[in-house]
Amino acid sequence: MNVGWIRHGNLSLKLLLVMGIVLFFVCNCSAKSQYSHKRVNDDYDSLPGVTMNVTDAEVVIDNGIVQITIANPEGHLMGVCYGGVNNILETPNKESNRGYWDVVWGTTNYYGTDWLLGSTFNVIVENEDQVEVSFSYKWDSTTWNTSNVWRIPANVDRRYIMLRGSSGFYTYMILEREEGVMPEANIFQIRTVYKLDQERFQYMAISDDRQRIMPSPKDRETGLPLAFKEAVLLTDPTNPNLRGEVDDKYQYSCDDKDNKVHGWISFDPQIGFWIITPSNEFRSAGPVKQDLTSHVGPTALAMFHSAHYAGYDVTMSFQEGEPWKKVFGPYYVYLNSASDYTDFHELWEDAKHQMKQETRSWPYEFPLSNDFPKSVERGFVYGRLQVHDRYRWKVVKSASHAWIGLAAPGVAGSWQTETKVYQFWTRADRNGGFMIKGIHEGVYNLFAWVPGFIGDYVYEEEITIAQGSVLKLGNLVYEPPRNGPTLWQIGYPDRTALEFYIPEPNSLFVNKLYTDSNVNRFRQYGLWERYAELYPDEDLIYTVGESDFHTDWFFAQVTRKEENNTYKPTTWQIVFTLEEVINSSNYTLRIALASATRAELQVRFNEPELSIPHFTTTVIGTDNAIARHGIHGIYRLYNVDVPSEWLCVGNNTLYLKQSRHDSPFFGVMYDYIRLEGPPRTI
Ligand SMILES: *[C@@H]1O[C@H](CO)[C@@H](O)[C@H](O)[C@H]1NC(C)=O
Ligand SMILES: *[C@@H]1O[C@H](CO)[C@@H](O)[C@H](O)[C@H]1NC(C)=O
Ligand SMILES: *[C@@H]1O[C@H](CO)[C@@H](O)[C@H](O)[C@H]1NC(C)=O
Ligand SMILES: *[C@@H]1O[C@H](CO)[C@@H](O)[C@H](O)[C@H]1NC(C)=O
Repeated sequence: MNVGWIRHGNLSLKLLLVMGIVLFFVCNCSAKSQYSHKRVNDDYDSLPGVTMNVTDAEVVIDNGIVQITIANPEGHLMGVCYGGVNNILETPNKESNRGYWDVVWGTTNYYGTDWLLGSTFNVIVENEDQVEVSFSYKWDSTTWNTSNVWRIPANVDRRYIMLRGSSGFYTYMILEREEGVMPEANIFQIRTVYKLDQERFQYMAISDDRQRIMPSPKDRETGLPLAFKEAVLLTDPTNPNLRGEVDDKYQYSCDDKDNKVHGWISFDPQIGFWIITPSNEFRSAGPVKQDLTSHVGPTALAMFHSAHYAGYDVTMSFQEGEPWKKVFGPYYVYLNSASDYTDFHELWEDAKHQMKQETRSWPYEFPLSNDFPKSVERGFVYGRLQVHDRYRWKVVKSASHAWIGLAAPGVAGSWQTETKVYQFWTRADRNGGFMIKGIHEGVYNLFAWVPGFIGDYVYEEEITIAQGSVLKLGNLVYEPPRNGPTLWQIGYPDRTALEFYIPEPNSLFVNKLYTDSNVNRFRQYGLWERYAELYPDEDLIYTVGESDFHTDWFFAQVTRKEENNTYKPTTWQIVFTLEEVINSSNYTLRIALASATRAELQVRFNEPELSIPHFTTTVIGTDNAIARHGIHGIYRLYNVDVPSEWLCVGNNTLYLKQSRHDSPFFGVMYDYIRLEGPPRTI
């Protein structure tokens, strides 16, 4: 039985049932929540129950709306039957290559991918309202490395849940390392991959302003690979409208905080396939970690952990015997459909509506693993954050729209490379008021950063959350780094380079999706090469008081391409005038970097040839944001004492040299730079 239906929400679309015959009727979604399966109402009772059919090879789960077929006991998803289509996944692919979890990991003498194939199938619950099944694998010290694919040193439990009346299914995974048992391991990536029917799914949607008709895998094969294999110039695409465009999956990345719903639309029949991730708690490295979403395939990803835009700093490393357990998900794979006469954009609107519903009902009450705490087992923290920026204001101000979160204990800012423990983030209101809900039991630090201010906040005491804890923290005050009054500043401290000059792309390497978008221009391919075109003779010189960082500060300090295809270092200058220099004192230079890739930033005051620089960052960063069209990677703040002897009355020049030049992708992005005068009584 294939039953397709529209999710309708506020849209009042018509519900389409395909059961051999086509029936239409109107349904009001707001009256019925899809996951509150225990609710008794006529609507709900009239829906078919969830059924399961298990054979030696397959587990088939069906709720009359969606039917999924899972390999038994391996656990990969072989089929999704929906909307009158027998299988919306890419059936020419092997059964194991349509919907699967994988982990990229390594140890001293191994690096590779484990597809986490299960060896045991278990029914967790099976009734009309809900089926939950488990495909698990218990790590075994005698067999784990006997095949080409070494099994990750962890016990793996992958779950699927189907609810009555739900137009999709939920999935999650529990990874567990037993104490004292398992060898060391470095985990680089954890994700789920869905490969959809190539013939049907051609329209991809990530956000309101990022959606388009996509090329096919074949279009990439016939195209011209650019500076790295992921970026391809489409020279002979089947859809002639795409000719001359660049395709690169990294152009469709986003911050994890914004990655709540993305997916694909088929035009015939009109079907949407959506990955809805209602919480960021189980993803690595906090809210501004970036990752992939969907890309040519058609492929839809649910990313939980990766090195993207962060590099080796976020490797999840386990010592031999180190215990650990984490639940990834659940997230929702949501399907919707519309009749041919509906504008297909409604499917995106409806997916967003569904995302909001899923987000509101987080934490879900229905997942049955004891490792997934229900809302009553979780805690709650609230308070108000203020900022005291000395020399700028005498009074304490609200930390408006600050990002505030709980993460594993550590120094200020450690959350952005923390990968093993859940993180719970929220955004303060205008007055700095915040509430963090749904926190797992555990010991945390409270961290924050405030747009408009440099540095990282950490609350001095560790915070212990017990089941049902409600913790009132009251007024907290963040004192950002500050030694003296601002003499000059460049940029806006928000951990990105978005406010700086971002050039138009070379007209040969355009992604048309971003042509008319200022906020997305940084996602265009090849902007790193525009630097040498814009500054052909000498490097960038910024004159305080005359230059404007929106137009006169290139968004990344990249290397300069020579005619013989080598690259050389670049040295940027900041020219500033001091009317007086206070002897025997320290000024302070603050350099906040938004990104760094195998870069060394050297700082010299007034003496460009000084053999030992006044300050160097040493070699930092593997976040690769320049090549991956990110506008930020990992945030780093450098605070440099500047003895007055380095300065002079009148014109001064600050030389910023990025000395590492083996590649076009080595370099830094600045977030913000400031020179402070010496401390004085205020
Ligand atoms: C490339 O050109 C630059 C500047 O013209 C020169 O300094 C460098 O030695 C050349 N490199 C090679 C490998 O020819
Ligand atoms: C500061 O030091 C310079 C050089 O050491 C000296 O010429 C100057 O007179 C000093 N200024 C004051 C105000 O002490
Ligand atoms: C300036 O900073 C240096 C450390 O970088 C410190 O040793 C020195 O005492 C400071 N000087 C003053 C006058 O504060
Ligand atoms: C300082 O720099 C400005 C701008 O580059 C220039 O106009 C001025 O003549 C310079 N002053 C001195 C004393 O060198």
